[in-house]
Amino acid sequence: MEEIRRHFPILSQQINGQSLIYFDNGATTQKPQAVIEAIGDFYRTSNSNVHRSMNCLAESATEKYEAAREKIRKFINASSAKEIIFTRNATEAINLVARTWGGDNLQAGDIVVLSIAEHHSNIVPWLQLQKKNKIKLEFIDLSNGSLNLALAGKLLANPKVKLLAIQTISNTLGIKHDLEKLIIQAKANKIKVLLDASQSSSHEPLDVRKLGCDWLAFSGHKTFGPTGIGVLYGQTELLEKMPEFLGGGDMIDEVFIDRFTTNELPYKFEAGTPHIAGVIGLGAAVDFIGSLGWAKIQDQEKKLTKYLFKQMSKLDFIEIYGHQDTNRHIPTIAFNINGVHGHDVGDLLGQAGIAVRAGQHCTQPLHDYLEIPGTVRASLSFYNTTEEIDKFIEVLKSINQKFH
Ligand SMILES: Cc1ncc(COP(=O)(O)O)c(C=O)c1O
Repeated sequence: MEEIRRHFPILSQQINGQSLIYFDNGATTQKPQAVIEAIGDFYRTSNSNVHRSMNCLAESATEKYEAAREKIRKFINASSAKEIIFTRNATEAINLVARTWGGDNLQAGDIVVLSIAEHHSNIVPWLQLQKKNKIKLEFIDLSNGSLNLALAGKLLANPKVKLLAIQTISNTLGIKHDLEKLIIQAKANKIKVLLDASQSSSHEPLDVRKLGCDWLAFSGHKTFGPTGIGVLYGQTELLEKMPEFLGGGDMIDEVFIDRFTTNELPYKFEAGTPHIAGVIGLGAAVDFIGSLGWAKIQDQEKKLTKYLFKQMSKLDFIEIYGHQDTNRHIPTIAFNINGVHGHDVGDLLGQAGIAVRAGQHCTQPLHDYLEIPGTVRASLSFYNTTEEIDKFIEVLKSINQKFH
């Protein structure tokens, strides 16, 4: 662990005279030195624009940028680098699909099926389309703290359903959804599938071909990479048919004063100067994950998840939300201390050097459904330790004592 943690300089910080305990990985993950170096190295040695100038720096920048695209292709097992579109984040990737494919293909009365646990980023773009194209949204709720698969099956049997847009893992509850059968059913019914893999990319390997999705979105900053860079994967045939998103440089082939033609994939969806350093940083993040290996990451996370839930379930003053089957969980837990406002819990944990998130975690419909105003979320990553969990539990006990 010592060796792994040394890759992340931020983790050795002191907060209020105490070692930082970073339990807010659901919001963003920390960056290994290799990512920080790759970004610095780009600006020190290769800074130039991509796909434009013919000079040596521009060639080096373009090479690095496209090499990173290939790394991302491998990371999610896409069949072609053309299927990897760089966006600002997962939010923009989902909006891209909603505005282009959704805008053109979803008509009045068509239904988009979502889960009640979706992040606002995978609700609002569809609500916008509800307003504009008069589509309908239907939500799969929870049953015993898991996705209600029986209801999902019924909803997907309706021929009016054109899209299943769903997260792979809940950012609030930390539960992994069992999507395999739903995707098979959706495909059999010619329903398109968009996966929001924002909470998967730092916790489990992704294989878009095995998943069988049409699109998949994730953010670089939740994958140990930089902020401002995200990925939209889309199947080639579908991307070819989709209209372009933003207009400007790089996404065009030719421009005249009365018309333009679009560039080939993936550039058709990448208007303007991209976040070159961000793409290179994300490539380095994916390399870092590869050098550690998913087996090691998942092994450590499994241990942490089991330990976290075991210790938390011993506390008789807290309420935990979502199922507690640790085999179907990432090391994320949403809870409340009975009778104490979540913001107070978050504040007091913060004073003890423990960073968590309190509130609705961009999942207001989920909190409304659970009939609670908010939750405290501790979201761990493989670089966290059981000692940190022990300290967290001790501080929760002292907060409870303070209020009762
Ligand atoms: C499940 C899920 N979807 C989408 C997002 C949006 O990510 P971003 O803000 O990076 O676009 C998040 C961020 O928390 C998330 O957890």
